[in-house]
Amino acid sequence: MIDKFINKILQGDCLELFKNIPDNSVDMTFADPPFNLKKNYTSYTDSLEFHEYLNWCEKWISEMVRVTKPTGAIFVHNIPKWLTYYATYLNRFANFKHWISWDAPTAPMGKSLQPAHYGILFYTKEPKGAKIYELRHPHKRDRKQGYLWKDYGGKKDLLHPFGPLVSDVWADIHRIKHNTKRDPHPCQLPIHLMDRLILLTTDDNDLVLDPFSGTGTTAISAKRLGRKYIGFELDKNYIEISQQKLAKTMPNYKIGESWVSFYLNDIITIRNNDWNRLRDYFIMPEPIRAIDYKRIKIKDKKLIPSEKELPLIKENTTVEKLENKNGKKVKRQENTLFVKFG
Ligand SMILES: C[S@@+](CC[C@H](N)C(=O)[O-])C[C@H]1O[C@@H](n2cnc3c(N)ncnc32)[C@H](O)[C@@H]1O
Repeated sequence: MIDKFINKILQGDCLELFKNIPDNSVDMTFADPPFNLKKNYTSYTDSLEFHEYLNWCEKWISEMVRVTKPTGAIFVHNIPKWLTYYATYLNRFANFKHWISWDAPTAPMGKSLQPAHYGILFYTKEPKGAKIYELRHPHKRDRKQGYLWKDYGGKKDLLHPFGPLVSDVWADIHRIKHNTKRDPHPCQLPIHLMDRLILLTTDDNDLVLDPFSGTGTTAISAKRLGRKYIGFELDKNYIEISQQKLAKTMPNYKIGESWVSFYLNDIITIRNNDWNRLRDYFIMPEPIRAIDYKRIKIKDKKLIPSEKELPLIKENTTVEKLENKNGKKVKRQENTLFVKFG
């Protein structure tokens, strides 16, 4: 029954669409819901009363848990305020693994501490038997000099040539800053953020479901990593943009037999247990302690898939944005780039 929904973005309300998905049928569910922050969506009013918003969230969270396989993982992305309520709810029938702190500046709110991270709750359906893989990311370096950011003292010979294990604080993935890289959507996520979650908890051919698909970030990540996907989305235009992008996406985020996440010309996430197969594709610094100032390099640049730019058409469209400045609500006019596909 689920087969006809596989590799599709379905239009409609997620609670209705979830009714088509059998229990225990999806390997990973990820949700990036509207944050109830009055964002400028085209088909959804992002401002519900406090309890109304939370009651609604509890409904789709229950559905995520229901459809996830006993070996599967559940992720929910939001600002910390809402995640505290989600976690209290999820603790009743799923298994807490991590609160991933995604270090990314958020909208200024109030007059106390400046929010500087989003959270991603990571739960598994069952306490035991879930698929989880260790990941590695490249060593952090000084941008100009190229030296390692951290001082490892006399232990540089022991460093992993690719980079350290990924922790629960992600500071190396940035929000999409340039309008030329974004779709006309107020809160599109970077695809390599999704790559990391998918590599963390799924294998190729596994099924990933996103009930708030937006312009298809999760589906694109799943497709380029050789996974299957199902997306739900209210807005027809966002689905159209997703389909245009998906048509150009190939399952080619791979080196040899190992799926990896690329960003620009770098590999930014690998699985730890793939390293023995991957190492032959790199030129290693010699001796290994030279890693302090020398990066490992991929031997053949042709192995890096080219990120072909999608054709852009500028439109002189003006949108109104609500923004919270010094605690006051102010209206601001902003020119926006709208992306069209040829
Ligand atoms: C925060 S955005 C997701 C962005 C997405 N992660 C991306 O990278 O493009 C939330 C999305 O949920 C959609 N949405 C809101 N309510 C929905 C509902 N009840 N069912 C399905 N989609 C909904 C909105 O149209 C919006 O595109």
